[in-house]
Amino acid sequence: MPADAPFIALNRKERLVPVQLDGTELMLPEGENLAASLLAAGVRSFRETPVSGAPRAPFCMMGACFDCLVEIDGIQRQACMLSVAEGMVIARLKGTTHG
Ligand code: FES
Repeated sequence: MPADAPFIALNRKERLVPVQLDGTELMLPEGENLAASLLAAGVRSFRETPVSGAPRAPFCMMGACFDCLVEIDGIQRQACMLSVAEGMVIARLKGTTHG
């Protein structure tokens, strides 16, 4: 976790597993909420809007706003609705380039 991360992981007993975020390996706690784990790892932007390209990050953490939308293993999913699993391949959605 970066020193400037505004989020602190409360449960440090979880096993850390590797995931890929835009080709960079991160070690995240297995079974923990994916959006919260990415925020705690220092990830600030999860996607860019298709219209303006503005960066977005998790807001509601309950599946309503879609600001945590990422592509996981080729499928667009809400990170706040998922748990960390070993080997996840996560890609941030970039502006108008996603479908
Ligand atoms: S943070 Fe709002 S849907 Fe995930």
